[in-house]
Amino acid sequence: MRPSINTSVGKLKFRNPTLLASGILGETASSMIRVYKAGAGGVVTKSIGKQPREGYQNPTVYLFEGGMLNAMGLPNPGIEYFKGEIEKLKGEHIPTIGSIFSGDAAEFAELAALMESAGADAVELNLSCPHVEGVGSEIGGRAENVYEIVKSVCDRVSIPVWAKMTPNTSDISELAIAAERAGASAIVAINTVKAMAISTELRRPVLSNRVGGLSGQAIKYIGLRAVFEISEKCSIPVVGVGGIYSGRDAAEYIMAGACAVEIGTAVSRYGPEIFGEVNRELEEFMENEHFSSIEEMVGVAHRA
Ligand code: SIN
Repeated sequence: MRPSINTSVGKLKFRNPTLLASGILGETASSMIRVYKAGAGGVVTKSIGKQPREGYQNPTVYLFEGGMLNAMGLPNPGIEYFKGEIEKLKGEHIPTIGSIFSGDAAEFAELAALMESAGADAVELNLSCPHVEGVGSEIGGRAENVYEIVKSVCDRVSIPVWAKMTPNTSDISELAIAAERAGASAIVAINTVKAMAISTELRRPVLSNRVGGLSGQAIKYIGLRAVFEISEKCSIPVVGVGGIYSGRDAAEYIMAGACAVEIGTAVSRYGPEIFGEVNRELEEFMENEHFSSIEEMVGVAHRA
C-alpha cells in the first residue's frame, strides 16, 4: 500500500506536509492559488501589518549558491486590503494561515481577529523577522514578550495560533516554551538567520538595509537542531522551516519532530513545482523505508 502523506498540525488537517512559507512569491491570492494547484498542502501569507508599508529600497535580495539573503522590510498592503485576498483563498478552499506582525500585543490581537473574520484557518505570529526595528526578533527574542503577545492573541481568537520563532537567540526552546505556556497551538521554527553580504566591487554591504535574513540550504542544519530541541521541550506540534528542497530534507525535519514543513527559498529558486517534487520524493522515501504515515515518522530521531 502507498504511504499516506496527509498530516495535521493540531486540529488543522493538510493533504500533505508541505506549506508555502510566509513572504514568498508576493502577497497576491492568485500567486498562492498557483502554489496550491502545484501541490502545496496549504499556504502561509506574507506578513501583514495594520497599515500598508513600502519596505526597503533595492537591493533587497541576494541569491547565492547555498541559499538567499534578503531584507524586504516587511512590505505589505495592510490588513484592510489583505482581508480580500484571504477571502479569495478561502473561496478556493485552500488551507490558509495568515501571517501577521506588530510591535504591540494588543495590535497583534486586533490583526489576528481581522484575519479570523476574513476566514483564515490559523494565524502565524511573526515574532522573528531579524531586521525591522521594533518588531520581529527585536521583540520576539525575549520570552516575556513572546508570552504576552501569544496570550493576547489567544485570548482574542478561536483559530489556532502558530508562533514563528527566531533562531537569533541563545535558547530557542525557551521562547517556544513561553509560546506554549501562553496558549499557542504550534511552534514554527525557524525564521531566517541574521546575516550580511559584502560587495567587494562596491566596498559596501550588498543589501540596502545592510543586514538581512539568511535562508535556504545554508540554514538547514540550524533549523533541524531548533526543531529537535523544541520538540524535546514542548508538547504542541512543531512546523519546520529552513532549507527544504527535497523529500529527504522534509523527512529529516519530520524525524526531528516536525509534523509539517514550510518551503520558501526553494520556491523562489525553482518555482511552485517544487511542492509536487518534494511530495513525490517524500512518498517514495516513506515507501522504501516502510513508513505508512507521516505521524509514524514524526520525531523518530528522538528515539535513537
Ligand atoms: C522581510 O520582509 O524583509 C522578511 C520578513 C521576515 O523575515 O519575517
